[in-house]
Amino acid sequence: MKTTNTGTERRIFRKSREFKPIINNIIPGGGHTYAKGDDQFAEFYAPYIVKGKGCHIWDMDGNEYIEYAMGLRAVTLGHAYDAVNKAVFEQMNEGTIFNRPSPIELYCAELLLDTLNNGHEMVKFGKNGSDVTTAAIKLSRAYTGRDIVAICKSHPFFSVDDWFIGSTAMDAGIPQTTKDLTVHFYYNDPQSLEELFKKYPGQIAAVILEPEKEIPPKDNFLHKVKELCHTNGTVFIIDEIISGFRYHIGGCQKMYNVQPDLTTFGKALANGYSIAALVGKREIMKLGGLEHNKERVFLLSNTYGSENHHLAAAMATMKIYREENVIQHLYDAGDMLRAGVEKSIKELNLEGFFGLFGKSCCIMYGTKDRDLQPSQPFRTLFLQETIKRGLLMPSFIVSYSHTQHDIEKTVEKIHEALVIYRKALDEDVSKYIEGAPIKPVFRKFN
Ligand SMILES: Cc1ncc(COP(=O)(O)O)c(C=O)c1O
Repeated sequence: MKTTNTGTERRIFRKSREFKPIINNIIPGGGHTYAKGDDQFAEFYAPYIVKGKGCHIWDMDGNEYIEYAMGLRAVTLGHAYDAVNKAVFEQMNEGTIFNRPSPIELYCAELLLDTLNNGHEMVKFGKNGSDVTTAAIKLSRAYTGRDIVAICKSHPFFSVDDWFIGSTAMDAGIPQTTKDLTVHFYYNDPQSLEELFKKYPGQIAAVILEPEKEIPPKDNFLHKVKELCHTNGTVFIIDEIISGFRYHIGGCQKMYNVQPDLTTFGKALANGYSIAALVGKREIMKLGGLEHNKERVFLLSNTYGSENHHLAAAMATMKIYREENVIQHLYDAGDMLRAGVEKSIKELNLEGFFGLFGKSCCIMYGTKDRDLQPSQPFRTLFLQETIKRGLLMPSFIVSYSHTQHDIEKTVEKIHEALVIYRKALDEDVSKYIEGAPIKPVFRKFN
């Protein structure tokens, strides 16, 4: 292994390095979430995390980090947040699941509808974003009697394409006949959707998209999508798994005043406890229920679909959003971080080489090489140098627990990492990265 002396505090990663082959031998991919994978972190700097409190986490070797991904964006308040954990413990002591629904299922659904305040009528809980987005599609197909689904080609990943290298589509195991049922349109391009409706008249069951990624909707794009859907008898679904309770307490749909037919929430709903929600119009949602004379949709049914303590976590989390200025804090902390990093970018002449994107509550970064091409070696270098300095930063995602002091310390450490980045641009990046460059995470469609 090549080593570089960067003058950073000496952190030891021995236990994590030894653990890596052992966990990969038993667990395919070495973990349970794609974005946490070994191929997403610098080869010798991929720590295994044993605990967290607020925005601080600790690895197997005892190294402490400030985290800027916050449990894949699920933890908005902070790790092991006392008020949420208290609600969870109290509910756990009353039992977790029973063979009949519990009143808390209604109370949590009512609180969610009231918090979203966007005219939705019914709720069905699941555990993951994938559960509820899949359920939204199934319901739309049953409701319309159609099979094709239109998804936004610019999402779920980057709409600032020139900064990122796309990975190849990971669709092994999906039959071609299933793939053929998905068609694509582009974000902020209503004409691309109009063309799909012309090409597949009366055949599109649903249009699903994230309301906003790095680039906001322009010229009432979301309203235009809704109008096109309704003119064509198609269900309009907004996926707020990321934006919900982060961009705005009512999601982007409230921020932009657009009501979808169905919508999904997940991350940020319960501060890291496993719960997601499909929310929407009674007319469509009721097909998953008992009170109609149509064929019933087997909508969402999981053994753990409504674990009471996770519902308690969601209720406690929503109450905090309602009572405290959580979302404003996310924007303020993100603004401070962005300002500090942009100052370093300027001072080190890194404009165009290291870029920040998206709303302050949800900042992503991109890395380019000296030819201004998106670069995984430079992403690897940044991750490596920030991890060495006590920052776990695959993104710049902040939480309610990030204090001014945390951000100031972070900005200092990022400056040091960017000094190395500058040197690597001036010399050769391979001199500075230890091990193999990481793989692209962001899938691009061809
Ligand atoms: C926009 C969006 N929708 C759905 C999902 C799937 O959510 P989950 O990983 O909880 O199944 C994700 C996951 O990151 C997402 O970003």
